Amino acid sequence: MLNFHKDHRNLVNVSLLVFVLLSMGVAIMPADGMQHTDPLPGMPEMTPAERRGLAVYVSENCGACHTQQVRNIEMDKTWGARPSVPSDYHYSKPRMDVWRQSPSLLGSERTGPDLTNVGQRQPGEQWHLLHLYDPRMVVKGSIMPRYGWLFEETAHPAKDAVIVPVPKERLRDTAHVVVAKQEALDLVAYLIALKQAPLPDGTPTPGFLPSPGRKADGAVALSEGALPDGAEIFKGTCQACHQADAQGLAGAFPPLAGSSIVNDADPTLMISIVLGGYDARAEYGVMPPQAEQLTDAQIAAVVSFVRGNFGNEAAAVSEDDVRTLRASVAPQTMLVP
Ligand code: HEC
Ligand code: HEC
Repeated sequence: MLNFHKDHRNLVNVSLLVFVLLSMGVAIMPADGMQHTDPLPGMPEMTPAERRGLAVYVSENCGACHTQQVRNIEMDKTWGARPSVPSDYHYSKPRMDVWRQSPSLLGSERTGPDLTNVGQRQPGEQWHLLHLYDPRMVVKGSIMPRYGWLFEETAHPAKDAVIVPVPKERLRDTAHVVVAKQEALDLVAYLIALKQAPLPDGTPTPGFLPSPGRKADGAVALSEGALPDGAEIFKGTCQACHQADAQGLAGAFPPLAGSSIVNDADPTLMISIVLGGYDARAEYGVMPPQAEQLTDAQIAAVVSFVRGNFGNEAAAVSEDDVRTLRASVAPQTMLVP
């Protein structure tokens, strides 16, 4: 028997052994495992601009309010199609050199939304630029700070400058325009690239654990042929730009309330705009295509919702209307002039 009272070496050696075993188990082995995760096949490598944007994200400490982790619990379902897996972080490895690591981007504070999949939810460059310039311009009542120093107000923008569609009355001088600095463009490139890649075929997809007292699958059973909730889709996808009251934002996003395109008896143009994007007028920004984000049923639901609300009085559209248009026109060619 080991005698801890008479031979102090036993005490030291046993403690040392326990310490080493614990360190292996809780620190060294998991860390080593993390070094060997492969990227997912559908994950593009980060471009230099996205990499610089990641550095801006870290230096501005966006992680103080934003997480980048979809946990496997029901309440996180809104933030991604599946819970996060280690491979999701392959390219954002924050190691800088042997001695330094930048802070983890997983985050622990969720004052604002989780950003794991924000590029999917919010693909519009102009929306992100406006939002960073002043969040309250696009989201009324937002408590996110503005990042005005990523922009410059000038009367003489360079030829290739990216001009942010800030309404004139917000400027110090109406002859000025707001130009996005390189940091802002890089940061937005990074944000738009934040998309959950699908897991390779055949990998078991981790599921979401139900909240206590709820059934595992919280999906509401839809009756045959019923469309999803258009109001919800409007809130999640269109409202950021066109605003909750569909009045738009002067100089950036047109109103959908009273729009002749929305109220047209023939819904073809409106559906094409939602599917393929729209950039018809200089006084407004660019509407990004939604064909990849939304299914035919979701587009039919949201188009019908907009046509029947906000004072608009046009007939609803069907999933088939959307399906026919999606099949007939490729998204890139649909940026209607
Ligand atoms: C003080 C907390 C706070 C900080 C710091 C902060 N945000 Fe936010 N952010 C929020 C809140 C709250 C919202 C939700 C309201 C809104 O959309 O403005 C939000 C929303 C967002 C959205 C929209 C997400 C969505 O799902 O629509 C993006 C993108 C975003 N923030 C990016 C950033 C970036 C990039 C930074 C750093 C430059 C940053 N935030 C810093 C609080 C913060
Ligand atoms: C990132 C911002 C953004 C989002 C998100 C967005 N739009 Fe747009 N939308 C625009 C801009 C900008 C225009 C005007 C483009 C132009 O005319 O140059 C526009 C134009 C339109 C028009 C034409 C209106 C008119 O009278 O000219 C319709 C209809 C429309 N959007 C519907 C939708 C619907 C429905 C959704 C949600 C599924 C949506 N948009 C999401 C930015 C956005």
